[in-house]
Amino acid sequence: MISSVFAVMEPRKKPHCPRSVLCCVLVLCVHLRLSLAGDCPADGRTWVPFEDKCYHFFHGEEDKIKSYTFERAKTLCQGFELLTIHSAEENEFVLKYSPEVWKGAVNVWLGMYYDTNSEDMRWFTDEPVKFTNWEDNPPLDILPMDTCVALHSDTGKWQNVSCLNDVEHGVICKTKQKAVETKKKPSALLSALVILSVVAIVGVSAVIWFLHQKHNLGSTVFTAFEYHPPFRVLETDQSRLVEAEETNSVP
Ligand SMILES: *[C@@H]1O[C@H](CO)[C@@H](O)[C@H](O)[C@H]1NC(C)=O
Repeated sequence: MISSVFAVMEPRKKPHCPRSVLCCVLVLCVHLRLSLAGDCPADGRTWVPFEDKCYHFFHGEEDKIKSYTFERAKTLCQGFELLTIHSAEENEFVLKYSPEVWKGAVNVWLGMYYDTNSEDMRWFTDEPVKFTNWEDNPPLDILPMDTCVALHSDTGKWQNVSCLNDVEHGVICKTKQKAVETKKKPSALLSALVILSVVAIVGVSAVIWFLHQKHNLGSTVFTAFEYHPPFRVLETDQSRLVEAEETNSVP
């Protein structure tokens, strides 16, 4: 009984819904990608957009893994910030993208340091530490003052390492997307639409003008037999318009 009801209802609903929803999602994704990609720094480096930030993953040439001290990592990101992570989603993004840059698992420097005044970890950006992802095993003998943090690109876990003695293989710089350019995109789309509609209006007017001219010519030069057929071919809307003009022009 129930299955037969579903059997009747399903074919009606299914074919329309998923297709249009998929289409919308696709258009949205394409639009989002286009509008996001343009807002990262154009300095010749590869910046990967995620949410409202951009990330640059440093990688050596020819797949060679490089080693960076913490000081070197900070220098490489000058003008931008060393990677900070404020949510599980952001942590996941780094995890997902790392294999596209580095062949194996690497440890990535985070822009975090031990603040001796507040006696806890802080971001260099001064943003509050809202999210952490510490691994379970505490590290062996690292002085609190020498505590830096590295993210394991395979597990996503954070490890305390020595700022002075350790070298890591991953450096990621981060920066905000420029807000100015996000505003430019929709207006570009809008002006394209305006131009298109102007072109369409001009085109339609030209056709109407042409038909009007032809009508005037036709009545004087062509015979009645040759004059009628072109108007029968016209679509109903246009032919009605022309008819209206005809009645107007003959007082
Ligand atoms: C790393 O160090 C900070 C600051 O001392 C501490 O809060 C955190 O629990 C440590 N993490 C691990 C995994 O030991």
